[in-house]
Amino acid sequence: MAYRVTEDQQRTQWGGPLLKELISKFERKDSKVGIVGLGYVGLPLAIRFAACGYRIVGFDVDESKIQTLAQGKSYIEHIDSEQVAALSQSGAIFTADFTRAEECDALIICVPTPLNKYREPDLGYVTGTVEALLPYLRPGQLMSLESTTYPGTTEEELRTRLERSGFKIGEDFFLVYSPEREDPGNPEFDTRTIPKVVGGVTDKCKAVGVALYQAVIDTVVPVSSPAVAEMTKLLENIHRAVNIGLVNEMKIVADRMGIDIFEVIDAAKTKPFGFTAYYPGPGLGGHCIPIDPFYLTWKAREYGLHTRFIELAGEVNRAMPEYVVGKLLDGLNELGRPLKNSHILVLGIAYKKNVDDMRESPAVEIMEMIKARGGIVAYSDPHVPTFPKMREHYFDLQSVQLNAENLGKFDAVVLATDHDRFDYDLIRQSASLIVDSRGKFRETASHIVKA
Ligand SMILES: NC(=O)c1ccc[n+]([C@@H]2O[C@H](COP(=O)([O-])OP(=O)(O)OC[C@H]3O[C@@H](n4cnc5c(N)ncnc54)[C@H](O)[C@@H]3O)[C@@H](O)[C@H]2O)c1
Repeated sequence: MAYRVTEDQQRTQWGGPLLKELISKFERKDSKVGIVGLGYVGLPLAIRFAACGYRIVGFDVDESKIQTLAQGKSYIEHIDSEQVAALSQSGAIFTADFTRAEECDALIICVPTPLNKYREPDLGYVTGTVEALLPYLRPGQLMSLESTTYPGTTEEELRTRLERSGFKIGEDFFLVYSPEREDPGNPEFDTRTIPKVVGGVTDKCKAVGVALYQAVIDTVVPVSSPAVAEMTKLLENIHRAVNIGLVNEMKIVADRMGIDIFEVIDAAKTKPFGFTAYYPGPGLGGHCIPIDPFYLTWKAREYGLHTRFIELAGEVNRAMPEYVVGKLLDGLNELGRPLKNSHILVLGIAYKKNVDDMRESPAVEIMEMIKARGGIVAYSDPHVPTFPKMREHYFDLQSVQLNAENLGKFDAVVLATDHDRFDYDLIRQSASLIVDSRGKFRETASHIVKA
């Protein structure tokens, strides 16, 4: 699958000396790779390139991250400090000083791509980064954008800025888009084993991009343009968002009919073809699935098109925290209790199991709704010892230790995120009311409400 410069192209000096030199540097690993944005995506990438023998310059605007990395420590739960220490020992430099971009042969951009308050793409981090780098770029470099974005970004936002600065893309400077597909906390796949899609602005850009990535990643998948690579990433995430929306809707229907949706999914997935299991939950979380689809929605409007599946899935998924709180109200009602002044423990507040990432977590929506109705909310999450600073939410809370005594103090627990580290037997035995949004308590019992 991997793309190679053909012998013919090599013989005819295809791309000229800059291209040949850059490809040869990447192949020999005699090159410096700059990674801009050292978060969930950038840090594992830096670790992987360093482990393969590349010299790393890690750029971030967050000084506290720079300092933590320089001390050989990790700030991401699933990345061990030993891995960061190995990165430091490889001679990696961590800096906020963009003048050092000049030293790098490749610059890989992994900065955030959120939505603004109108739920429209906020490309400010990407464009700000490119503009901050521009004065220090030089001929003979490769730039790769990895941040998730709408089709056209690399051409419209990066290429134009680079060309305005005088670079000839594909001749003296090389530009690709290569989406990140990291799945933090998934032990089955890592940076090396997740295939990497690469789309170049020109064929020469693609050849240089593929040469860089195939030195560190098992499978590189070249595609015909950056827009194809940009849309590939969106298709993957939209596929998840829509299917999760579908199964959340099915959960509500099944519940009304007295059918357990998890039993249905277990039976359906015995079909060896044509069905993929998705699971219902308390709503979408993370920085990807609730956000990325709307990058396409926004761009499609430019073409006079409405992305109805995306909007509908968004509507269903966004209503799920309210659905879970409705089930909590029903459960308390059966016990003759109002939610007001009841003590409620939310179990698992990270957005998915076994991680510490709180971004867009629906558990926090649930906590807000309980609080707004006068409930007294607490949480327990082995991955989040203290409720973190969040832009739109504030709770002055520490994680409650899970033991029989503590569980007995609450009128109800709401299972929002099903971490493996929870003792589910203990919860089953000690909680007076369990509202389960994850299908962990499959039996029928008077103190269990399926949500
Ligand atoms: N986290 C994932 O699992 C994942 C998976 C696939 C794709 N993505 C995409 O990758 C991109 C990055 O996501 P992330 O989860 O790593 O985000 P993150 O917030 O964990 O990390 C981004 C980093 O960029 C830094 N930063 C911001 N502006 C900067 C600038 N101008 N210069 C240098 N550094 C800057 C931030 O301080 C932060 O450390 C996003 O587009 C996201 O959608 C993330």
